[in-house]
Amino acid sequence: MALISSKEMFSKAIHSDYAVGAFNVNNMEIIQGITEAAKEENAPLILQVSAGARKYAKPVYLVKLVEAAMEDTNLDIVLHLDHGEDFEICKKCVDDGFTSVMIDGSKYPFEENIKITKKVVEYAHSKGVVVEAELGKLAGIEDDVNVKAQDATFTDPEQAAEFVQKTGVDSLAIAIGTSHGAYKFKGEPRLDFERLGKISQIIPDTPLVLHGASTVLPEFVEMCNKYGGEIPGAQGVPEAMLKEAAKYNICKINIDTDLRLAMTASIRKLFVENPSEFDPRKYLGPAREAIKKMVRHKIKNVLNASNQR
Ligand code: G3H
Ligand code: 13P
Ligand code: ZN
Repeated sequence: MALISSKEMFSKAIHSDYAVGAFNVNNMEIIQGITEAAKEENAPLILQVSAGARKYAKPVYLVKLVEAAMEDTNLDIVLHLDHGEDFEICKKCVDDGFTSVMIDGSKYPFEENIKITKKVVEYAHSKGVVVEAELGKLAGIEDDVNVKAQDATFTDPEQAAEFVQKTGVDSLAIAIGTSHGAYKFKGEPRLDFERLGKISQIIPDTPLVLHGASTVLPEFVEMCNKYGGEIPGAQGVPEAMLKEAAKYNICKINIDTDLRLAMTASIRKLFVENPSEFDPRKYLGPAREAIKKMVRHKIKNVLNASNQR
C-alpha cells in the first residue's frame, strides 16, 4: 500500500457513473472510521486535509495517522490538500509527501487565478503531484436570485476551457449551486445541471470536483437537535442529485459536514444517555462507528463506488 496519485482513479471515474469520495480528516477516529469503511466497500479513497486541520492536529500527526491507516487497512490512498490558499501551503504539502494539492484561487480575478494556479502546477508537477483548482464561487441557488446573478458566480464553461488550457491543471472544482456547511439551500435544493453538462462537454477530459457536497443527513440533524443541539433548518444536497452529478464528469465529491454531524450527533446522544461517562474512548468509539456506518452508506448508495478500487 502507498500514497497514490488520483490520476488513474479519475481516468476510471470520469466517464463512469460513480465518483470518488474525498473526506476531510482532522483526527485519528475520523481517519479510522473512513478508511475502515472504504476497506469494507473496496472503494477508491481520497483523504483531504485543510489548513484548519493542519493547524488543529499539526501536519506531522495527520500524515503519520494516514500512513498508519494505510498499513492497518492495506489501502492505497490519495492524500490531498483541501483549499490551499497560496503557493506556500501547496509547496509545503508537496514537500510533506501529499500526492495531490488544491490551489483555491477562486477569490481572485480570472487572470490572477490562472497565474497562481500555474505557479502551483509547475512546482507540483515537477515533483509528480497533481493539482486541483477552482473556478467560480460556491453559493446555493436562491429562489429569488435571477439567472444573471447566477452567471456571475457559477463557473462559466468557456472560461473553464481557457483556464484548464492555460494552467495545465489536473482537475477543476466548479460552482453549480452547492455550498459549504450545513445550510446549503433556503428553499428547494437545486443544482445547475445544464451548466454541468456544458462544462463536461467543453472540457471532456478534465475531471471535475464537487465541493460542498454533504447531504446533511436528516437522521443526524434530528439526533443533534434531540440531544441538546441547535441546528434547525439544516439542509444538504439530496442524494439523487449527487448520483446524477456523478454521471457527468464529476470524479471527486467532497464531504466534511456529514462527518462532523455524524460524530457530534453520536457524542451528544451518548452524553445525554450516560451523564456520568467521562472515558473518552466511550464516546469517541461510538462516534468512530457512526462515521464508518455513514461513509459506507455514502460509498454504496450515493457515490456508487463500491468495488471500484
Ligand atoms: O471546505 C472546507 C472544509 O469543510 C474544511 O473546513 O477549514 O474548517 O477545516 P475547515
Ligand atoms: P461540505 O461542507 O458540504 O461537507 O463540503 C466539504 C468540502 O467541500 C471540503 O472542501
Ligand atoms: Zn470545499
